Amino acid sequence: MSRTGAGEHGQTAEERTALARLYDLDLVEDPGDLDLYRALAGRTGGPILEVAVGTGRLAVGLAAAGFEVTGVDIDPAMLARARGRAAVAGKEVASRLRLVEGDARDVRLPGAGSYQLAFVALNSLMLMGDAASQRAAVATLAAHLAPGGLAVVDVWLPDADDLGRYDGRIVLEYPRRDPETGRLVTKIGSALHDAATGTVTLTSIYEEGDPGEPAIRWFRRDRLRLVSADDLRGFAEAAGLTVESIGGSYDLEPLAPGAERAILVAVRA
Ligand SMILES: C[S@@+](CC[C@H](N)C(=O)[O-])C[C@H]1O[C@@H](n2cnc3c(N)ncnc32)[C@H](O)[C@@H]1O
Repeated sequence: MSRTGAGEHGQTAEERTALARLYDLDLVEDPGDLDLYRALAGRTGGPILEVAVGTGRLAVGLAAAGFEVTGVDIDPAMLARARGRAAVAGKEVASRLRLVEGDARDVRLPGAGSYQLAFVALNSLMLMGDAASQRAAVATLAAHLAPGGLAVVDVWLPDADDLGRYDGRIVLEYPRRDPETGRLVTKIGSALHDAATGTVTLTSIYEEGDPGEPAIRWFRRDRLRLVSADDLRGFAEAAGLTVESIGGSYDLEPLAPGAERAILVAVRA
């Protein structure tokens, strides 16, 4: 798997910057998870740690809600966009957000042991491509929490129909206009499920440019290691956390057959 989480090794800074921008274009459809983290932060208070913070979608939202937030990510291009997003949100919000380059598997910040809420959102744990790395990332959450603090991990649970479709076929994901550049972006992708390793490899090609113009093409590949609710429970327990709940949606309704997500909430004793 890519250690950068933003595509293949050997990418240029220009490619990383473009892929970070295109990540935000992928997410113009809001996943709808900010309310969950705001509610949990309301319960715990700050400071908050987001591991694999990406472009700051959630971290800036939480800083805007008044919480002190630290975001860690391995990809400097994603962090640069998070900084830009915080600057747009204003000085006060930006002053509550600290962004640190680091690896979820082993980062230990000076404030370890003082965070009230620590989380890995929106499938990011799946990017840490093997069970040992995923376990280590959950241990990172635990290591940063104060006693009584909450760890939260959100992963996607593809069902058998989804996995059956992930046979490498190419699909058109969207044509979409990038509000930042004004250019038309066409995204095509393919997903390949490998049952032997429990992984799904996502390949994405973005073509930027209006019809009749020479297109610029960007490429990324991510390998996701599938994570079950039992895996999440095991990672939490190995990190010394007590599982409070595993929800199946952002309302934290109990996990039930057919749920598309598993959301672990665990407490540090
Ligand atoms: C799907 S994005 C999620 C971003 C953000 N949490 C959100 O919800 O929008 C995944 C992020 O995980 C980061 N990432 C992948 N592997 C990582 C690792 N080992 N340590 C830290 N960050 C990592 C990537 O750089 C990327 O920014």
